Amino acid sequence: MNISDELKYRKLEQAQPGEFEQLQEKAKGCPWRQSYHIQASAGLLNDPNGFTFYQGEYHLFYQWFPLGTFHGMKYWYHMKSSDLVHWEDVGVGIEPGDPQDSHGAYSGSGIVKDDKLYLMYTGNTRDEQGERHPFQNLAVMDSTGKIKKRSRPVIKAVPKGYTEHYRDPKIWFSGGKYFCVIGAQRANETGCAVLYSSSDLEAWDFEGEIATSLGDFGYMWECPDYFEMDQQGVLLFSPQGISPEGDHYRNIYQSGYIVGKPLDTERRSFVHGSFQELDRGFDFYAQQTTAAPDGRRILVAWMGLPDTNYPTDSNGWANCLTLPREITLREGKMIQQPVRELQMLRKQEVKFESTLQDEVNTFEGFSGTSYELICEFSGANAERFGIEFRTGETEKTVLLYDRVEKEVILDRSESGQPVATEYGTERRCSLDADNIKFQLFVDSSSVEIFVNDGEEVFTSRIFPSMNSTGIRFFAQGGSAACKATVWSI
Ligand code: FRU
Repeated sequence: MNISDELKYRKLEQAQPGEFEQLQEKAKGCPWRQSYHIQASAGLLNDPNGFTFYQGEYHLFYQWFPLGTFHGMKYWYHMKSSDLVHWEDVGVGIEPGDPQDSHGAYSGSGIVKDDKLYLMYTGNTRDEQGERHPFQNLAVMDSTGKIKKRSRPVIKAVPKGYTEHYRDPKIWFSGGKYFCVIGAQRANETGCAVLYSSSDLEAWDFEGEIATSLGDFGYMWECPDYFEMDQQGVLLFSPQGISPEGDHYRNIYQSGYIVGKPLDTERRSFVHGSFQELDRGFDFYAQQTTAAPDGRRILVAWMGLPDTNYPTDSNGWANCLTLPREITLREGKMIQQPVRELQMLRKQEVKFESTLQDEVNTFEGFSGTSYELICEFSGANAERFGIEFRTGETEKTVLLYDRVEKEVILDRSESGQPVATEYGTERRCSLDADNIKFQLFVDSSSVEIFVNDGEEVFTSRIFPSMNSTGIRFFAQGGSAACKATVWSI
Protein backbone atom coordinates (compact mmCIF):
# COMPACT_ATOMS: atom_id res chain seq x y z
CA MET A 1 0.00 0.00 0.00
CA ASN A 2 1.42 3.38 -1.00
CA ILE A 3 0.12 6.09 1.25
CA SER A 4 0.92 9.73 0.64
CA ASP A 5 2.85 11.56 3.33
CA GLU A 6 -0.07 13.92 3.65
CA LEU A 7 -2.34 11.09 4.75
CA LYS A 8 0.35 9.38 6.78
CA TYR A 9 1.36 12.29 8.96
CA ARG A 10 -2.09 13.59 9.81
CA LYS A 11 -2.88 14.39 13.40
CA LEU A 12 -6.23 13.66 14.95
CA GLU A 13 -7.44 17.22 14.54
CA GLN A 14 -6.72 17.01 10.82
CA ALA A 15 -9.24 14.23 10.34
CA GLN A 16 -12.38 14.86 8.34
CA PRO A 17 -15.37 15.57 10.57
CA GLY A 18 -16.59 12.25 11.92
CA GLU A 19 -13.74 10.27 10.33
CA PHE A 20 -12.23 9.01 13.57
CA GLU A 21 -15.64 8.28 15.12
CA GLN A 22 -16.50 6.26 12.02
CA LEU A 23 -13.34 4.21 12.41
CA GLN A 24 -14.22 3.61 16.05
CA GLU A 25 -17.73 2.56 15.08
CA LYS A 26 -16.34 0.13 12.52
CA ALA A 27 -13.89 -1.29 15.05
CA LYS A 28 -16.63 -1.70 17.62
CA GLY A 29 -18.58 -3.91 15.26
CA CYS A 30 -15.61 -6.15 14.51
CA PRO A 31 -16.01 -9.72 15.79
CA TRP A 32 -12.28 -9.95 16.50
CA ARG A 33 -12.23 -7.24 19.17
CA GLN A 34 -10.33 -8.60 22.13
CA SER A 35 -12.00 -9.03 25.48
CA TYR A 36 -9.07 -8.76 27.92
CA HIS A 37 -6.07 -7.50 25.94
CA ILE A 38 -5.04 -3.88 25.53
CA GLN A 39 -6.13 -2.65 22.11
CA ALA A 40 -6.80 0.75 20.54
CA SER A 41 -10.37 1.96 20.03
CA ALA A 42 -9.44 2.52 16.38
CA GLY A 43 -6.32 2.84 14.27
CA LEU A 44 -3.04 1.03 14.67
CA LEU A 45 -1.32 0.09 17.91
CA ASN A 46 2.30 -1.03 18.02
CA ASP A 47 5.11 -1.00 20.60
CA PRO A 48 4.57 -0.78 24.36
CA ASN A 49 6.29 2.36 25.70
CA GLY A 50 7.13 4.00 29.01
CA PHE A 51 6.21 0.95 31.08
CA THR A 52 6.86 2.10 34.68
CA PHE A 53 5.49 1.69 38.19
CA TYR A 54 4.84 5.20 39.51
CA GLN A 55 2.87 6.30 42.56
CA GLY A 56 1.20 2.97 43.18
CA GLU A 57 0.26 2.28 39.57
CA TYR A 58 1.71 0.73 36.44
CA HIS A 59 1.79 3.17 33.58
CA LEU A 60 1.90 1.66 30.15
CA PHE A 61 1.75 3.58 26.90
CA TYR A 62 1.57 2.28 23.38
CA GLN A 63 2.46 3.55 19.95
CA TRP A 64 -0.72 4.66 18.27
CA PHE A 65 -1.73 5.98 14.88
CA PRO A 66 -5.41 6.91 15.14
CA LEU A 67 -6.39 7.53 11.53
CA GLY A 68 -5.80 4.22 9.78
CA THR A 69 -4.23 0.81 10.14
CA PHE A 70 -0.93 1.80 8.57
CA HIS A 71 2.11 3.27 10.33
CA GLY A 72 1.52 7.01 10.30
CA MET A 73 1.81 9.87 12.76
CA LYS A 74 2.51 8.10 16.06
CA TYR A 75 1.12 9.17 19.42
CA TRP A 76 1.78 7.69 22.84
CA TYR A 77 -1.51 6.40 24.21
CA HIS A 78 -1.68 6.08 27.98
CA MET A 79 -3.11 3.21 30.07
CA LYS A 80 -2.67 2.62 33.80
CA SER A 81 -3.39 -0.15 36.25
CA SER A 82 -2.83 -1.00 39.87
CA ASP A 83 -2.79 -4.76 39.24
CA LEU A 84 -1.55 -5.41 35.67
CA VAL A 85 -4.98 -6.84 34.82
CA HIS A 86 -7.56 -4.05 34.90
CA TRP A 87 -6.41 -1.14 32.78
CA GLU A 88 -7.79 2.36 32.85
CA ASP A 89 -7.84 4.29 29.61
CA VAL A 90 -6.12 7.59 30.38
CA GLY A 91 -6.12 8.99 26.84
CA VAL A 92 -3.37 10.45 24.71
CA GLY A 93 -0.10 10.65 26.65
CA ILE A 94 2.25 12.29 24.20
CA GLU A 95 1.00 14.17 21.22
CA PRO A 96 3.42 14.58 18.30
CA GLY A 97 3.68 17.46 15.86
CA ASP A 98 6.13 19.91 17.41
CA PRO A 99 9.51 20.61 15.83
CA GLN A 100 11.19 17.93 17.98
CA ASP A 101 8.64 15.24 17.02
CA SER A 102 7.04 16.65 13.86
CA HIS A 103 6.51 13.22 12.27
CA GLY A 104 5.70 11.12 15.29
CA ALA A 105 6.44 10.47 18.95
CA TYR A 106 8.25 7.17 18.50
CA SER A 107 9.10 4.55 21.08
CA GLY A 108 10.80 5.12 24.38
CA SER A 109 10.74 4.35 28.07
CA GLY A 110 10.09 5.78 31.51
CA ILE A 111 11.87 6.19 34.84
CA VAL A 112 10.87 7.82 38.12
CA LYS A 113 12.99 10.72 39.39
CA ASP A 114 12.15 13.32 42.05
CA ASP A 115 8.59 11.98 42.30
CA LYS A 116 8.02 12.56 38.61
CA LEU A 117 7.78 10.14 35.75
CA TYR A 118 10.36 10.96 33.08
CA LEU A 119 9.54 9.69 29.63
CA MET A 120 12.30 9.59 27.05
CA TYR A 121 11.29 8.94 23.46
CA THR A 122 12.38 9.34 19.89
CA GLY A 123 11.02 12.29 18.00
CA ASN A 124 10.69 11.28 14.39
CA THR A 125 11.22 14.28 12.17
CA ARG A 126 11.64 14.60 8.45
CA ASP A 127 13.06 17.58 6.59
CA GLU A 128 11.77 19.05 3.34
CA GLN A 129 13.64 16.43 1.36
CA GLY A 130 11.89 13.76 3.36
CA GLU A 131 15.07 12.81 5.18
CA ARG A 132 14.73 11.49 8.71
CA HIS A 133 16.29 13.26 11.70
CA PRO A 134 15.68 11.35 14.90
CA PHE A 135 15.81 13.33 18.14
CA GLN A 136 15.71 11.87 21.63
CA ASN A 137 13.21 13.86 23.67
CA LEU A 138 11.90 14.14 27.19
CA ALA A 139 8.39 14.48 28.51
CA VAL A 140 7.70 14.66 32.22
CA MET A 141 4.57 13.54 34.02
CA ASP A 142 3.86 15.02 37.43
CA SER A 143 1.86 13.54 40.29
CA THR A 144 -1.38 15.02 38.91
CA GLY A 145 -0.87 12.99 35.74
CA LYS A 146 -0.12 15.99 33.57
CA ILE A 147 2.50 15.28 30.92
CA LYS A 148 4.65 18.14 29.66
CA LYS A 149 6.93 17.77 26.70
CA ARG A 150 10.30 19.48 26.66
CA SER A 151 10.60 21.54 23.53
CA ARG A 152 14.31 20.82 23.06
CA PRO A 153 15.66 17.35 22.39
CA VAL A 154 18.06 15.97 24.98
CA ILE A 155 20.02 14.17 22.25
CA LYS A 156 19.95 15.99 18.97
CA ALA A 157 22.65 14.67 16.70
CA VAL A 158 23.26 11.14 15.52
CA PRO A 159 26.96 10.47 16.15
CA LYS A 160 29.25 9.87 13.21
CA GLY A 161 29.24 6.29 12.01
CA TYR A 162 25.47 5.74 12.37
CA THR A 163 22.52 6.33 10.08
CA GLU A 164 19.23 8.09 10.77
CA HIS A 165 17.86 4.77 12.08
CA TYR A 166 18.58 5.69 15.66
CA ARG A 167 15.74 5.33 18.12
CA ASP A 168 13.87 3.81 21.08
CA PRO A 169 15.82 4.91 24.20
CA LYS A 170 15.46 2.63 27.23
CA ILE A 171 16.61 4.20 30.49
CA TRP A 172 17.88 2.63 33.71
CA PHE A 173 19.66 3.78 36.83
CA SER A 174 22.80 2.13 38.13
CA GLY A 175 25.65 3.14 40.43
CA GLY A 176 24.38 6.69 40.87
CA LYS A 177 24.01 7.34 37.14
CA TYR A 178 21.38 7.10 34.46
CA PHE A 179 22.05 5.10 31.35
CA CYS A 180 20.14 4.53 28.19
CA VAL A 181 20.47 2.17 25.26
CA ILE A 182 19.34 3.24 21.82
CA GLY A 183 18.71 0.99 18.83
CA ALA A 184 20.93 1.96 15.94
CA GLN A 185 22.16 1.20 12.48
CA ARG A 186 25.84 1.56 11.66
CA ALA A 187 26.87 3.43 8.53
CA ASN A 188 27.57 0.04 6.94
CA GLU A 189 23.90 -0.82 7.48
CA THR A 190 24.28 -3.34 10.27
CA GLY A 191 22.35 -3.14 13.53
CA CYS A 192 23.66 -2.46 17.02
CA ALA A 193 22.85 -0.78 20.33
CA VAL A 194 24.59 2.32 21.66
CA LEU A 195 24.99 3.53 25.22
CA TYR A 196 24.54 6.98 26.76
CA SER A 197 24.96 8.15 30.34
CA SER A 198 23.60 11.09 32.30
CA SER A 199 23.64 12.42 35.84
CA ASP A 200 20.23 14.10 35.60
CA LEU A 201 18.34 12.72 32.55
CA GLU A 202 18.74 16.12 30.90
CA ALA A 203 22.32 16.14 29.63
CA TRP A 204 23.41 12.91 27.99
CA ASP A 205 26.92 11.76 27.04
CA PHE A 206 27.46 9.40 24.18
CA GLU A 207 29.50 6.52 25.60
CA GLY A 208 29.71 4.48 22.43
CA GLU A 209 28.50 1.24 20.97
CA ILE A 210 27.85 -1.79 23.13
CA ALA A 211 30.44 -4.31 21.98
CA THR A 212 28.85 -7.72 21.54
CA SER A 213 30.16 -10.81 19.81
CA LEU A 214 27.21 -10.96 17.43
CA GLY A 215 29.06 -9.33 14.54
CA ASP A 216 26.80 -8.55 11.60
CA PHE A 217 23.45 -9.38 13.06
CA GLY A 218 20.71 -7.83 10.96
CA TYR A 219 20.48 -4.33 9.53
CA MET A 220 18.73 -2.61 12.44
CA TRP A 221 18.09 -3.30 16.13
CA GLU A 222 14.83 -1.83 17.33
CA CYS A 223 13.61 -1.38 20.89
CA PRO A 224 16.64 -2.42 22.94
CA ASP A 225 16.20 -2.98 26.67
CA TYR A 226 18.77 -3.75 29.33
CA PHE A 227 18.44 -4.97 32.90
CA GLU A 228 20.29 -7.06 35.44
CA MET A 229 18.98 -10.09 37.26
CA ASP A 230 20.75 -12.70 39.41
CA GLN A 231 24.08 -10.91 38.84
CA GLN A 232 23.69 -11.26 35.09
CA GLY A 233 23.08 -8.71 32.36
CA VAL A 234 20.29 -9.14 29.84
CA LEU A 235 20.09 -7.19 26.59
CA LEU A 236 16.84 -7.58 24.69
CA PHE A 237 16.20 -6.17 21.25
CA SER A 238 14.27 -6.68 18.03
CA PRO A 239 16.69 -7.21 15.16
CA GLN A 240 15.58 -6.80 11.56
CA GLY A 241 17.18 -8.66 8.68
CA ILE A 242 17.93 -12.05 10.25
CA SER A 243 17.45 -14.97 7.83
CA PRO A 244 15.52 -18.07 8.85
CA GLU A 245 17.60 -20.94 10.24
CA GLY A 246 15.76 -24.22 10.77
CA ASP A 247 12.88 -23.55 13.14
CA HIS A 248 14.34 -20.17 14.07
CA TYR A 249 13.73 -16.63 12.86
CA ARG A 250 10.63 -17.53 10.89
CA ASN A 251 8.81 -14.21 11.27
CA ILE A 252 9.45 -11.13 9.17
CA TYR A 253 11.43 -9.61 12.08
CA GLN A 254 12.70 -11.15 15.30
CA SER A 255 12.77 -10.43 19.00
CA GLY A 256 15.22 -11.90 21.43
CA TYR A 257 17.95 -11.46 23.97
CA ILE A 258 21.50 -12.17 24.97
CA VAL A 259 22.52 -12.94 28.56
CA GLY A 260 25.96 -12.44 30.01
CA LYS A 261 28.09 -10.81 32.65
CA PRO A 262 26.72 -7.43 33.73
CA LEU A 263 27.44 -4.81 31.08
CA ASP A 264 30.75 -3.07 31.65
CA THR A 265 29.53 0.48 31.18
CA GLU A 266 33.07 1.92 31.23
CA ARG A 267 34.34 -0.23 28.42
CA ARG A 268 30.88 -0.86 27.03
CA SER A 269 31.77 -4.48 26.53
CA PHE A 270 29.17 -7.14 26.95
CA VAL A 271 30.35 -10.72 27.28
CA HIS A 272 27.39 -12.91 26.54
CA GLY A 273 25.96 -16.17 25.23
CA SER A 274 24.14 -16.74 21.98
CA PHE A 275 21.08 -14.81 20.79
CA GLN A 276 17.86 -16.53 21.81
CA GLU A 277 14.37 -15.83 20.57
CA LEU A 278 11.90 -14.65 23.17
CA ASP A 279 8.86 -16.13 21.56
CA ARG A 280 8.25 -18.95 19.09
CA GLY A 281 4.86 -17.83 17.78
CA PHE A 282 3.80 -15.77 14.79
CA ASP A 283 3.14 -12.31 16.25
CA PHE A 284 5.49 -10.87 18.82
CA TYR A 285 7.72 -7.79 18.65
CA ALA A 286 9.25 -4.76 20.37
CA GLN A 287 8.96 -6.00 23.98
CA GLN A 288 9.63 -3.75 26.92
CA THR A 289 10.27 -4.65 30.55
CA THR A 290 9.90 -2.89 33.86
CA ALA A 291 10.58 -3.67 37.51
CA ALA A 292 7.54 -4.27 39.71
CA PRO A 293 7.69 -2.86 43.26
CA ASP A 294 8.16 -6.39 44.62
CA GLY A 295 11.22 -6.90 42.44
CA ARG A 296 9.66 -8.94 39.66
CA ARG A 297 10.69 -8.12 36.09
CA ILE A 298 7.59 -7.76 33.93
CA LEU A 299 7.55 -7.91 30.13
CA VAL A 300 4.93 -6.69 27.68
CA ALA A 301 5.22 -6.82 23.90
CA TRP A 302 3.36 -5.83 20.79
CA MET A 303 1.31 -8.81 19.59
CA GLY A 304 1.97 -7.97 15.98
CA LEU A 305 4.71 -7.26 13.48
CA PRO A 306 5.71 -4.36 11.29
CA ASP A 307 5.02 -4.52 7.54
CA THR A 308 2.23 -7.05 8.04
CA ASN A 309 -1.43 -6.76 7.13
CA TYR A 310 -4.00 -8.12 9.56
CA PRO A 311 -7.60 -9.12 8.81
CA THR A 312 -8.92 -6.40 11.13
CA ASP A 313 -7.38 -3.66 8.95
CA SER A 314 -10.60 -3.41 6.98
CA ASN A 315 -12.43 -2.96 10.29
CA GLY A 316 -10.49 0.17 11.16
CA TRP A 317 -8.16 -1.20 13.84
CA ALA A 318 -5.04 -3.33 14.14
CA ASN A 319 -3.10 -5.10 16.86
CA CYS A 320 -2.99 -5.42 20.62
CA LEU A 321 -0.44 -5.86 23.39
CA THR A 322 0.49 -9.19 24.96
CA LEU A 323 -0.46 -10.05 28.50
CA PRO A 324 2.16 -9.03 31.06
CA ARG A 325 4.64 -11.81 31.81
CA GLU A 326 7.01 -12.30 34.68
CA ILE A 327 10.48 -13.16 33.49
CA THR A 328 13.19 -15.06 35.28
CA LEU A 329 16.47 -16.63 34.23
CA ARG A 330 17.25 -20.31 34.35
CA GLU A 331 20.68 -21.40 33.15
CA GLY A 332 21.02 -18.46 30.83
CA LYS A 333 17.55 -18.87 29.40
CA MET A 334 14.61 -16.60 29.90
CA ILE A 335 11.54 -18.18 31.43
CA GLN A 336 8.29 -16.30 30.88
CA GLN A 337 5.16 -16.84 32.91
CA PRO A 338 1.88 -14.98 32.86
CA VAL A 339 1.84 -12.67 35.90
CA ARG A 340 -0.03 -14.34 38.76
CA GLU A 341 -2.45 -11.38 38.94
CA LEU A 342 -4.03 -12.73 35.75
CA GLN A 343 -5.71 -15.40 37.87
CA MET A 344 -8.14 -12.63 38.81
CA LEU A 345 -9.63 -13.03 35.34
CA ARG A 346 -10.68 -16.60 35.99
CA LYS A 347 -14.43 -17.09 36.10
CA GLN A 348 -16.22 -20.40 35.74
CA GLU A 349 -13.99 -23.46 36.06
CA VAL A 350 -14.48 -26.74 34.17
CA LYS A 351 -12.28 -29.83 34.28
CA PHE A 352 -11.50 -32.62 31.85
CA GLU A 353 -9.62 -35.85 32.46
CA SER A 354 -9.08 -38.81 30.17
CA THR A 355 -6.53 -41.21 28.79
CA LEU A 356 -6.61 -40.62 25.08
CA GLN A 357 -6.01 -43.68 22.95
CA ASP A 358 -5.56 -42.83 19.27
CA GLU A 359 -8.55 -40.55 19.34
CA VAL A 360 -9.85 -37.02 19.20
CA ASN A 361 -11.95 -36.25 22.24
CA THR A 362 -14.23 -33.20 22.31
CA PHE A 363 -14.31 -31.23 25.54
CA GLU A 364 -18.07 -31.39 26.03
CA GLY A 365 -18.20 -29.26 29.14
CA PHE A 366 -16.82 -26.08 27.67
CA SER A 367 -16.77 -23.88 24.61
CA GLY A 368 -15.87 -20.24 24.15
CA THR A 369 -13.72 -17.57 22.59
CA SER A 370 -12.13 -16.15 25.72
CA TYR A 371 -10.57 -18.40 28.33
CA GLU A 372 -7.51 -19.74 30.10
CA LEU A 373 -6.74 -23.42 29.64
CA ILE A 374 -4.14 -25.50 31.46
CA CYS A 375 -3.60 -28.94 30.05
CA GLU A 376 -1.10 -31.51 31.25
CA PHE A 377 -0.13 -34.59 29.27
CA SER A 378 1.71 -37.45 30.92
CA GLY A 379 2.56 -41.12 30.48
CA ALA A 380 2.47 -40.76 26.73
CA ASN A 381 3.55 -43.38 24.27
CA ALA A 382 1.63 -41.66 21.49
CA GLU A 383 3.66 -40.21 18.64
CA ARG A 384 1.77 -36.95 18.84
CA PHE A 385 -0.69 -35.48 21.26
CA GLY A 386 -2.19 -32.09 21.84
CA ILE A 387 -5.09 -29.70 21.65
CA GLU A 388 -7.27 -28.38 18.89
CA PHE A 389 -8.94 -25.13 19.93
CA ARG A 390 -11.20 -22.51 18.43
CA THR A 391 -12.61 -25.44 16.48
CA GLY A 392 -15.64 -25.13 14.25
CA GLU A 393 -17.00 -26.95 11.25
CA THR A 394 -14.03 -26.09 9.08
CA GLU A 395 -11.65 -24.34 11.45
CA LYS A 396 -9.17 -25.31 14.11
CA THR A 397 -5.90 -24.14 15.58
CA VAL A 398 -3.63 -27.03 16.50
CA LEU A 399 -1.06 -27.18 19.27
CA LEU A 400 0.78 -30.45 19.69
CA TYR A 401 3.83 -32.19 21.00
CA ASP A 402 5.57 -34.51 18.58
CA ARG A 403 7.32 -37.13 20.71
CA VAL A 404 9.26 -38.52 17.74
CA GLU A 405 10.64 -35.18 16.57
CA LYS A 406 10.68 -33.82 20.14
CA GLU A 407 9.02 -30.64 18.99
CA VAL A 408 6.15 -28.41 20.00
CA ILE A 409 4.17 -27.40 16.92
CA LEU A 410 1.63 -24.62 16.51
CA ASP A 411 -0.34 -24.83 13.30
CA ARG A 412 -2.61 -21.96 12.27
CA SER A 413 -3.17 -23.12 8.68
CA GLU A 414 -6.83 -23.78 9.43
CA SER A 415 -7.32 -21.13 12.10
CA GLY A 416 -9.58 -18.89 10.03
CA GLN A 417 -8.67 -15.76 8.08
CA PRO A 418 -5.04 -16.14 6.99
CA VAL A 419 -2.22 -13.79 8.05
CA ALA A 420 1.24 -13.42 6.50
CA THR A 421 1.10 -16.91 4.99
CA GLU A 422 4.25 -16.15 2.97
CA TYR A 423 6.05 -16.71 6.29
CA GLY A 424 4.45 -20.12 6.76
CA THR A 425 1.50 -21.35 8.78
CA GLU A 426 3.36 -23.46 11.30
CA ARG A 427 5.85 -22.66 14.05
CA ARG A 428 8.00 -25.35 15.64
CA CYS A 429 10.34 -25.43 18.56
CA SER A 430 12.37 -28.30 19.96
CA LEU A 431 11.67 -29.42 23.48
CA ASP A 432 12.80 -32.62 25.12
CA ALA A 433 10.37 -33.55 27.89
CA ASP A 434 8.31 -36.53 29.01
CA ASN A 435 5.48 -34.50 30.44
CA ILE A 436 4.05 -31.53 28.65
CA LYS A 437 2.08 -28.69 30.20
CA PHE A 438 0.35 -26.23 27.93
CA GLN A 439 -1.13 -23.07 29.42
CA LEU A 440 -3.19 -21.13 26.90
CA PHE A 441 -4.72 -17.70 27.10
CA VAL A 442 -7.26 -17.52 24.32
CA ASP A 443 -8.99 -14.27 23.39
CA SER A 444 -11.28 -13.45 20.46
CA SER A 445 -8.37 -13.19 18.03
CA SER A 446 -5.25 -14.39 19.80
CA VAL A 447 -3.56 -17.12 21.75
CA GLU A 448 -0.59 -17.00 24.11
CA ILE A 449 0.83 -20.41 24.90
CA PHE A 450 3.19 -21.06 27.81
CA VAL A 451 4.86 -24.45 27.48
CA ASN A 452 6.14 -26.24 30.59
CA ASP A 453 5.75 -23.22 32.82
CA GLY A 454 7.25 -20.72 30.43
CA GLU A 455 10.21 -22.62 29.06
CA GLU A 456 8.89 -21.71 25.63
CA VAL A 457 6.15 -19.29 24.61
CA PHE A 458 4.15 -19.05 21.41
CA THR A 459 2.26 -15.78 20.90
CA SER A 460 -0.04 -15.50 17.92
CA ARG A 461 -2.99 -13.74 16.46
CA ILE A 462 -5.66 -16.02 14.99
CA PHE A 463 -8.80 -14.93 13.20
CA PRO A 464 -11.43 -17.66 13.46
CA SER A 465 -15.15 -17.26 13.07
CA MET A 466 -16.98 -16.52 16.32
CA ASN A 467 -18.74 -19.87 15.92
CA SER A 468 -15.44 -21.68 16.22
CA THR A 469 -15.55 -22.16 19.96
CA GLY A 470 -14.70 -25.82 20.53
CA ILE A 471 -11.82 -27.55 22.25
CA ARG A 472 -10.63 -31.08 21.45
CA PHE A 473 -7.84 -33.15 22.93
CA PHE A 474 -6.10 -35.80 20.86
CA ALA A 475 -3.45 -38.51 20.78
CA GLN A 476 -2.12 -40.17 17.64
CA GLY A 477 -0.13 -43.39 17.35
CA GLY A 478 -0.61 -44.45 20.96
CA SER A 479 -1.96 -43.04 24.16
CA ALA A 480 -1.49 -40.11 26.50
CA ALA A 481 -3.10 -39.17 29.79
CA CYS A 482 -4.63 -35.73 29.63
CA LYS A 483 -5.77 -33.56 32.54
CA ALA A 484 -7.16 -30.14 31.81
CA THR A 485 -8.78 -27.20 33.57
CA VAL A 486 -10.38 -24.32 31.78
CA TRP A 487 -11.60 -21.02 33.15
CA SER A 488 -13.82 -18.74 31.15
CA ILE A 489 -12.62 -15.14 31.08
C1 FRU B 1 9.24 -0.78 16.30
C2 FRU B 1 9.29 0.66 15.81
C3 FRU B 1 10.28 1.48 16.62
C4 FRU B 1 9.78 2.87 16.45
C5 FRU B 1 8.28 2.66 16.47
C6 FRU B 1 7.49 3.59 15.61
O1 FRU B 1 8.05 -1.41 15.99
O2 FRU B 1 9.59 0.71 14.45
O3 FRU B 1 11.62 1.30 16.23
O4 FRU B 1 10.19 3.73 17.45
O5 FRU B 1 8.07 1.33 16.03
O6 FRU B 1 6.13 3.39 15.80
